[in-house]
Amino acid sequence: MSDTQAPARREPYEVKLAAGTHYFCSCGQSKKPPFCDGSHQGSAHVPYEAVVSEAKTVYVCGCGKSGGAPFCDGTHGSL
Ligand code: FES
Repeated sequence: MSDTQAPARREPYEVKLAAGTHYFCSCGQSKKPPFCDGSHQGSAHVPYEAVVSEAKTVYVCGCGKSGGAPFCDGTHGSL
């Protein structure tokens, strides 16, 4: 597997999260984006961990360029 992250898309994923800990893909190889499915194993990538205290909708970066990963910070708008 390559250690180069390929942009999956140029817009965020809107996801509804339950309270708890969630893991998001950082390698660009997950078959269940934006969530980690373990595809990073064997690479230098580790998933992003996010803890939410209550159920809510979040926007997860899909372009791989956010400065606030794993969440979208609007950077995709300048790509
Ligand atoms: S999708 Fe990457 S910054 Fe918005």
